[in-house]
Amino acid sequence: MSGKESKPARRASAPPAPRPPSVHPPPPSAAPASVRAPQTAPTDDERFMDVAIQAAKSGHPSPNPHVGAAVVKDGVVLASAHHDRAGGDHAEIAAIRAAGAGAKGGSLYVTLEPCNHHGRTDPCTDAIIAAKLARVVVGCRDPNPHVEGKGIEKLEAAGIQVVLGVREEKARTIIAPWVKHITEGMPYVSLKLALSLDGRIATRTGASKWVTGPDARAKVHLLRSRSDAVAVGIGTALADDPALTVRDAPGDSPIRIVFDTKLRLPTTSRLVQTSREIPTIVIAGLDAPLEPEEELVQHGVEVMRSQVSTEGRLDVAGAFRSLAQRGVVSLMVEGGAELAGSILAGRLADELHVFVAPILLGPRGRAGAVDWAGPDTPAQAPRISQPAWELVGTDAYVHGPIVYPD
Ligand SMILES: NC(=O)c1ccc[n+]([C@@H]2O[C@H](COP(=O)([O-])OP(=O)(O)OC[C@H]3O[C@@H](n4cnc5c(N)ncnc54)[C@H](OP(=O)(O)O)[C@@H]3O)[C@@H](O)[C@H]2O)c1
Repeated sequence: MSGKESKPARRASAPPAPRPPSVHPPPPSAAPASVRAPQTAPTDDERFMDVAIQAAKSGHPSPNPHVGAAVVKDGVVLASAHHDRAGGDHAEIAAIRAAGAGAKGGSLYVTLEPCNHHGRTDPCTDAIIAAKLARVVVGCRDPNPHVEGKGIEKLEAAGIQVVLGVREEKARTIIAPWVKHITEGMPYVSLKLALSLDGRIATRTGASKWVTGPDARAKVHLLRSRSDAVAVGIGTALADDPALTVRDAPGDSPIRIVFDTKLRLPTTSRLVQTSREIPTIVIAGLDAPLEPEEELVQHGVEVMRSQVSTEGRLDVAGAFRSLAQRGVVSLMVEGGAELAGSILAGRLADELHVFVAPILLGPRGRAGAVDWAGPDTPAQAPRISQPAWELVGTDAYVHGPIVYPD
């Protein structure tokens, strides 16, 4: 994988939840039986790349990319593995080691072009050449201009056959957050909304615990565990006093961020009270008072000052850029309506995760799930391209990348 190695964002000290092993047991070599025959049967290369892609989804390697690999010989998957943590073994190395001497003469399937330079670890190309693999199948090139193509060139120069671009679109999707971070200097932003059938996020009293059921909440905790940071507006922090931790899923709690122009976050809040265990950053306006800042800092909260617009709103894009500089690659925004509105108006969200509960909350409370002017016509509405619909408990869950029509 790429040698782009930067300092990881500081996350909560790891709770004692077990992490999945980075080496995956070999799956059966035969293709799984399906009810309907696919229109085009996958080739062997696609089938084995799917094993590597599946492996790549595990772990939390931020600020490095998710990468998966599989070693295959004579049509049998000997081992598959993923890059689990920044500083740990790259996926190729873990898979080659797990395959042992049997890897010689076999094929390596890897979702991202192997690295060819020294970072925290030795170049993966050297390990591939040393293992005497005959063939390397790559999902996509490393888009980092300092790396792009060099790993492939080195392997070919050593007489290894390289096939590039198998399941390329899927391989690119896996590294989308990392690509955005290194190419744009911005975090990859997921916007999560939990709403009623009539599009409301809270009752007329402002209560929103709980709009969705326990299965949806567990899913949200899983999404949190895969994010470097989660963010809310001060309206949500005051109304719900959320902890924003990972409790109903394995994994670490992300950094918590509160957009709070005037530093209204009470020191008695759960976010402040737990800030020594789980880093908490409050984004405040440049002219917010000093006294609450001192109190928050004494409780272990970090205060980051940011520009304020003429409408009195924090510069969300500027704050996101600062967070990216500190190693935040993936950020999930969890509401409320005003912050979600600013993020959609600024076209800052890359992905949408919406949970819809089979309940009706009525229109007299908050205006709606997203508080913004919205588009002039439905054709101009931001939308999920290729939405994935699932049932999570009794709630519907739709998610996918957002496109913003012009
Ligand atoms: N169902 C759900 O999933 C869910 C999730 C979250 C919240 N909620 C509900 O939503 C309600 C809170 O939503 P809300 O819309 O009132 O509050 P919000 O979006 O959480 O916070 C809005 C506040 O954040 C501050 N802010 C700073 N910069 C901003 C910017 N650029 N854009 C937007 N806000 C900015 C502003 O206060 P300052 O000017 O003081 O900084 C603003 O009033 C509560 O009832 C909560 O229970 C529901």
